[in-house]
Amino acid sequence: MISTTRAAGQAGQGAPLGSGRDEASTGAAVRTMFGEVAPRYDFLNHFLSLGRDIAWRRAAAHALKDILERPGSRVADVCCGTGDLSFSLGRQSQGVVLGADFCHPMLAIARSKAGKHGRRIHFLEADTLRLPFGDASLDAVTSAFGFRNLANYGRGIEEMRRVLKSGGRLAILEFSRVRWPIFGPLFRFYFRRVLPRIGAWISGVEGPYSYLPDSVEKFPDQDVLAEMLRGAGFHKVSYRNFTGGVAALHVGEKMKTSSAATPSGSNHPERRFP
Ligand SMILES: C[S@@+](CC[C@H](N)C(=O)[O-])C[C@H]1O[C@@H](n2cnc3c(N)ncnc32)[C@H](O)[C@@H]1O
Repeated sequence: MISTTRAAGQAGQGAPLGSGRDEASTGAAVRTMFGEVAPRYDFLNHFLSLGRDIAWRRAAAHALKDILERPGSRVADVCCGTGDLSFSLGRQSQGVVLGADFCHPMLAIARSKAGKHGRRIHFLEADTLRLPFGDASLDAVTSAFGFRNLANYGRGIEEMRRVLKSGGRLAILEFSRVRWPIFGPLFRFYFRRVLPRIGAWISGVEGPYSYLPDSVEKFPDQDVLAEMLRGAGFHKVSYRNFTGGVAALHVGEKMKTSSAATPSGSNHPERRFP
């Protein structure tokens, strides 16, 4: 059932950061924020989630196991940050994994960790709203805790769909809505009151860990996100909750379309990975 209070899948909806007037200002604010937090990002991720985030990313990679095990498969992990999901994908891949992010300091950490994680992963600096991949060129696209930060969710889904082959799979791991009765209020107290203080204390920056609960509250819940994916041309859409809905993994497949309905990609002149 679609929640009307969270029926937030309008085309222009995106991360609550920047001036709110245009996508460029939101994108710039998001990039600056992750640049500030990059040196402590991995530690805080594991610490604040009590290590659960590691299992969630592993489950996301597992959802693509059949694709990853195909020789020559091409999978992009967008908003890859410091690369942890890319590395999970890379461990199973018999093809290529492309980790893409628009924040240079986050990507620099991903690259510095890549040495110990094999040769199947390539990191590149790219905006998820303007991916440097050809139309229908990828077998799967993933995003872990990145999609919520896009300046425009509708355009993000459309761009990920554009680069997927027909039948290609999209997997989005994101914070979501906790539905367990007693755990829910306790978690919300932790997330809203405790986590921002610990995050600010350890990272030395105020903004990012107050933005985190804000952005999750304004993000579409599990059912609304599933509906957005269906509305954007994905089928076999399903989701799985982790830890009562603290995070959810949405998976869907790109439906076959007639060539007339396929976006031309003419707004995407850069094609470094055709
Ligand atoms: C919370 S971090 C998640 C990083 C990583 N995927 C993980 O699982 O830890 C969000 C990342 O999304 C990136 N991001 C946000 N908007 C983006 C955009 N429009 N294009 C590319 N990267 C973006 C940020 O730079 C940041 O590295």
